[in-house]
Amino acid sequence: MGLHMLLLQSHFFLAMLLIFVSKSVSTQNNFPRAKCTDHCGDVSIPFPFGTREGCYLSKTFLVTCNDSHYDPPKPFLGHSTMEIKKISLEGQLTVLKLIAKACYARNGTRVLVHHPFTHFKEFTVSNTANKFTVVGCDTYAFVYGEWINQNYYETGCTSRCFSKDNLDDGSCSGVGCCQTSIPKGVSQVNLTLNSYDNFTKSYDGNRTTVWDFNNCSYAFLAEESAFTFSPNNLSTLMNVQKLPMVVDWAIDRGTCEESQKNMSSYACKSVNSSCIETDNGYRCYCSEGYEGNPYLSDSDGCKGIKVRFPVYYLEIHHIILS
Ligand SMILES: *[C@@H]1O[C@H](CO)[C@@H](O)[C@H](O)[C@H]1NC(C)=O
Ligand SMILES: *[C@@H]1O[C@H](CO)[C@@H](O)[C@H](O)[C@H]1NC(C)=O
Ligand SMILES: *[C@@H]1O[C@H](CO)[C@@H](O)[C@H](O)[C@H]1NC(C)=O
Ligand SMILES: *[C@@H]1O[C@H](CO)[C@@H](O)[C@H](O)[C@H]1NC(C)=O
Ligand SMILES: *[C@@H]1O[C@H](CO)[C@@H](O)[C@H](O)[C@H]1NC(C)=O
Ligand SMILES: *[C@@H]1O[C@H](CO)[C@@H](O)[C@H](O)[C@H]1NC(C)=O
Ligand SMILES: *[C@@H]1O[C@H](CO)[C@@H](O)[C@H](O)[C@H]1NC(C)=O
Ligand SMILES: *[C@@H]1O[C@H](CO)[C@@H](O)[C@H](O)[C@H]1NC(C)=O
Ligand SMILES: *[C@@H]1O[C@H](CO)[C@@H](O)[C@H](O)[C@H]1NC(C)=O
Repeated sequence: MGLHMLLLQSHFFLAMLLIFVSKSVSTQNNFPRAKCTDHCGDVSIPFPFGTREGCYLSKTFLVTCNDSHYDPPKPFLGHSTMEIKKISLEGQLTVLKLIAKACYARNGTRVLVHHPFTHFKEFTVSNTANKFTVVGCDTYAFVYGEWINQNYYETGCTSRCFSKDNLDDGSCSGVGCCQTSIPKGVSQVNLTLNSYDNFTKSYDGNRTTVWDFNNCSYAFLAEESAFTFSPNNLSTLMNVQKLPMVVDWAIDRGTCEESQKNMSSYACKSVNSSCIETDNGYRCYCSEGYEGNPYLSDSDGCKGIKVRFPVYYLEIHHIILS
């Protein structure tokens, strides 16, 4: 117990020390970070993102924190209605996107259809983290829109099934659920859903039709890990409005070399940071052995991982754990 108190006290002392150190040096920074909020609700908003002028690197990184209509407050990208779930300094942003839906009545009339679309000016949709997924038993769907240099891309997926019994739990393999990748560099996402037989086809001599076990279909471009197919999803997706989609962000359109020529606009401010090139600009990262925010200078930027806690702290911790 005594040792425990000692540990708590050392925690507190260290916390005070760290706060003191970072506060006293942060005046050297280019941005008035002290007056900037670094989170909105549960979501952390690291620089280059910011909620006000003087807090973000450029308009591209504006996050609107809506605290008047939501408790906890919710962050949105720019002035859009696109809600942000997560911002990572590794160059990814997770937003919530509406899913496409189409529902049919027993007589084959389409009674509901929703075909959402998204357009990004500066960012591109991650082709590694997301998958285009279609769920339904009489369905084909497309994802299309603007691609690199105002070119056009289009791809799709199809799924038909004859009864609810042959659907595989956990596998999206073309029966009830179909999944495909999208190309790299996509900036626009339009979704459309179609049907082969308006859900009216029967596979058992007209006793039952597809409609009897599935009357809606769905399509979404979403983070792969956010969706695992289960036969229940033929109906549960009706109550789902949005799913997470991962977007890649980067600074400007320039290369590392070009950008480094002007040190006042170069975004990798931390001494111990480096630059990496991506398809839509460059990104900064902390050198090996350092962690923190490479877009901020000095004490707010990349810090040595090992020198963060004095050795005696690690030793006390070790004794308690063993
Ligand atoms: C907050 O969200 C509500 C509802 O979506 C919207 O009407 C309002 O304009 C938003 N406020 C700000 C400051 O964005
Ligand atoms: C689809 O079927 C569900 C029950 O499985 C029902 O609640 C819903 O109203 C049906 N939708 C349409 C458009 O018929
Ligand atoms: C089909 O069913 C829907 C909903 O039940 C109804 O509104 C519509 O009038 C019907 N259409 C035909 C052609 O029977
Ligand atoms: C995607 O949908 C939007 C809104 O309906 C439309 O303005 C845009 O032209 C569509 N994109 C393509 C490539 O058709
Ligand atoms: C499906 O419905 C559309 C209009 O709602 C109609 O034009 C089409 O012929 C129907 N297709 C089949 C196979 O019933
Ligand atoms: C099922 O109904 C369709 C259209 O009503 C008809 O063309 C078909 O012959 C029927 N099939 C069987 C096996 O009865
Ligand atoms: C899909 O179905 C599973 C099992 O019922 C459920 O846990 C999951 O929430 C569903 N996913 C969606 C997106 O509806
Ligand atoms: C360097 O960047 C700053 C800030 O963006 C800008 O004002 C300045 O004109 C640039 N200098 C050159 C030589 O491009
Ligand atoms: C980190 O920055 C310090 C101060 O400029 C420098 O001495 C050190 O070599 C840097 N470390 C690495 C790994 O770049």
